[in-house]
Amino acid sequence: MSTLIKGGRVITAVDDYVADVYIDGEQIKAIAQNLPFKADRVIDATGKYVIPGGIDVHTHMELPFGGTFASDDFQTGTIAAAHGGTTTIIDFAVQYRGKSMREGFDTWLQKAEDKSAIDYGLHMILTELDDNTLPDMDQLVRREGVTSFKLFTAYPGVFMVDDATIFRAMKRSADNAALICMHAENGGVIDLLIKRNLSEGKTSPNYHALSRPATTEEEATHRVIKLSEMAGVPVYIVHVSSHRAMEQIRAARDQGLPTYGETCPQYLFLSYEDYSDGSFDGAKYICSPPIREQANQEHLWKALEVDDLQAVSTDHCPFCMKEGFKGLPKQKELGKGDFSKIPNGLPGVENRLHLLYQGGVLERGWSMNRFVQLVSTAPAKLMGLFPRKGTIAVGSDADVVVWDPNRKHTISAKTHFMRVDYNPYEGMTVDGSPAYVLSRGKVIFEGDQFTGKSGDGRFIKRNTYNLP
Ligand code: URP
Ligand code: ZN
Ligand code: ZN
Repeated sequence: MSTLIKGGRVITAVDDYVADVYIDGEQIKAIAQNLPFKADRVIDATGKYVIPGGIDVHTHMELPFGGTFASDDFQTGTIAAAHGGTTTIIDFAVQYRGKSMREGFDTWLQKAEDKSAIDYGLHMILTELDDNTLPDMDQLVRREGVTSFKLFTAYPGVFMVDDATIFRAMKRSADNAALICMHAENGGVIDLLIKRNLSEGKTSPNYHALSRPATTEEEATHRVIKLSEMAGVPVYIVHVSSHRAMEQIRAARDQGLPTYGETCPQYLFLSYEDYSDGSFDGAKYICSPPIREQANQEHLWKALEVDDLQAVSTDHCPFCMKEGFKGLPKQKELGKGDFSKIPNGLPGVENRLHLLYQGGVLERGWSMNRFVQLVSTAPAKLMGLFPRKGTIAVGSDADVVVWDPNRKHTISAKTHFMRVDYNPYEGMTVDGSPAYVLSRGKVIFEGDQFTGKSGDGRFIKRNTYNLP
């Protein structure tokens, strides 16, 4: 099967020119003006952008969490991702206490294969690590293409590990050129604040945020950066939510440390003010780190613009507000009367490009190159996917989005593909969206029509990082 995308404005992280893109099989084979090739299919991209498919390096499909599981599986979640122009995700497999990394890896492969509509990679969450299990990290990196590990300084009793475990994982990753991803919040302090609030009868959703002040994120971010400096390893701070935490990353980078950070649309578009009234509707916005006061947003936008933060992912981890939606069990409602029992996480995998294009390119004057860098190229480089993915180049996978700047899209739970009964950005109209989405040469979305197939997505064995 061959496809010719004609006359579009080809945008990579550095290029911007009008050309035809010829795809044969799964890869881009030629890029030039007025290509003479005949193709099975011709897509007229005049007046549209031709950009590399989005890469979302932070998703949690079907993650067991808080007494339930994230409501999107690899089928529904990846179809939703593709609808919004994302053609690769990296999800988090979990090594649970008493279980091996291998078991976690196999479990996540089983969840994904036969279901994923787009290509996917896996990180490994570590909940314990000793001298006997350290070689398992080597196997994952060298044999399985799992080249990044996430550790938590939060969620005591579930995911939280101590500094020695973090340091041990960092040292081994330094030897393997693997990337360490850190969830940075001070879990011990937060646990005390949660207990104190609950004992005072402060049980509504907004107390989730009030129990996790930005200082707890700032402290943990500073600590894990220092640990990474001691271990001599690059560190990638996930879901940066606050100005304070971002400043720690900026300061480390100014010192020349290989410190990287992502933020997510929820921290750019939503604010504590959205749920400060204490009603249970606020459960929609419960995630960790929490949605912060509005003043943080402009600092995060600016950090993305000037490369103090390097990527935007979604931390897609949806839970329904009401029991019974598409047969799903009670989810956010588990925390009625006790905010600490509300499962943490928000939907977002479908709307990342919509939101960043609107907020970044249209409203803040970013170049299309910066947009592509943040949603595709930098994530590809950090996670060892570049140049196979993350760019429009001869020899790269034909993961391509034909982005129509004149195609308005109103975000709504009534029309979204995500398996969740609300959308945090309900009613927002964005002035651009994908006209066509191609995954390894195959058109998988034409406008709102899914033309792909679940199970066509492949597990990608990643290389080690190629730092941007
Ligand atoms: O609230 C969140 N972020 N849920 C997903 C798990 C995590 O910490 O990334
Ligand atoms: Zn996290
Ligand atoms: Zn997450």
